[in-house]
Amino acid sequence: MKILSVVGARPNFMKVAPIHRAFKKYNKRVTHIICHTGQHYDTNMSEVFFNQLGLPAPDYYLGIGGGSHAEQTGKIMIKFEEVLLKEKPDLIIVVGDVNSTIACSLTAQKLHIQVAHVEAGLRSFDRYMPEEINRILTDTISDYLFVTEKSGLINLRNEGVEESKIFFVGNCMIDSLISILPLTKSSDILEKYDIKRKEFIIVTMHRPSNVDSEYRLSEMAKFLNSISSEQKVIFPIHPRTRKNLENFGLDKKLEGNVILTDPVGYIDFIAMLNESTLILTDSGGIQEESTYLGVQCITLRTTTERPSSIEEGTNQLVGEDFNKAEKAVKQIINGYEKIGTIPELWDGRSAERISEILFNNSMH
Ligand code: UD1
Ligand code: UDP
Repeated sequence: MKILSVVGARPNFMKVAPIHRAFKKYNKRVTHIICHTGQHYDTNMSEVFFNQLGLPAPDYYLGIGGGSHAEQTGKIMIKFEEVLLKEKPDLIIVVGDVNSTIACSLTAQKLHIQVAHVEAGLRSFDRYMPEEINRILTDTISDYLFVTEKSGLINLRNEGVEESKIFFVGNCMIDSLISILPLTKSSDILEKYDIKRKEFIIVTMHRPSNVDSEYRLSEMAKFLNSISSEQKVIFPIHPRTRKNLENFGLDKKLEGNVILTDPVGYIDFIAMLNESTLILTDSGGIQEESTYLGVQCITLRTTTERPSSIEEGTNQLVGEDFNKAEKAVKQIINGYEKIGTIPELWDGRSAERISEILFNNSMH
């Protein structure tokens, strides 16, 4: 069986790495090919993860880069079609909700190649988010829907998806987190930034709704300056956010206790997350990772497609409201801790389950 997995953006690498390992270990019948679209391309947004997660260099690199949605999606489709025509895989695996996910699943289905979607069924119910469109469309045309949390099952059933396509397997991103945890002990990231355990806050922001407008970004800068009087703020900054901060001249408005850094490698990032007082974020994956680690997470969004991180985990939504966020920060610093539990099947074995399901189905 020839399977081709697609990676493109930072959160994709953590999801494909454990699947690659599971194929190698449990399913030797699979020839596994990896295609990197190049949606993310800086070393610290891409290559660093291959090294740290033990992923082999991709068999194909499409070098797409940034662009408008149509431009990026269209370019990926054109290049990816060439790869599919050459390789003729039996199935492709796409993960998450980025433009590479929908571009490649659509290209494959038009060539009658089966598609497996890892992280299916998540819904924010906010179609203003580009990711929500990508999720709905990818799920609609996928043959295997691998679901990470219970809400995903409910959403797919409500949408009338055939039961035989839906598989509740747990969370591959957590597989990676569990396998990387022992390595985080040798990270020296805290010394590097001169920060101490439980005495700092991490911030990550990259959603267009938070970082694309000058007004919103300038309000964020004020908010970060204000909370940095409570504890040091470490802000590993996504390239989209850096470009906007610099264009609007706002990087210079951040005060000394707000430490701006380039994006951090996975091992250092998890090491830091695990030792932080709390994280302020609009990331999808980080809401899940903080839930697994029991770290307090404040999400600056109005919706989440990952409700288990709130209902079971340590996440809270404060909307796009910096006053609410500041109140939540102070509560946590003053000892209010949300005690969470780990969602079902977030146990480090999700990729094994995927490998087994694909193996069993290929026998029929
Ligand atoms: C993308 C995903 C988003 C995901 C995020 C993870 C879509 C629609 N969005 O958003 O769902 O949460 O990745 O991080 O797929 N850039 C660089 N270097 C890089 C990567 C990006 O400079 O290595 C710059 C480029 O100028 C690019 C901009 O960042 O135009 C945005 O990149 P893009 O991949 O289009 O969207 P993200 O905001 O990264
Ligand atoms: N991450 C990282 N370094 C950073 C910021 C994030 O390694 O500086 C990891 C994080 O641990 C998670 C993934 O990147 O595994 C999340 O990616 P991102 O927030 O870009 O995407 P999203 O999950 O929002 O789509």
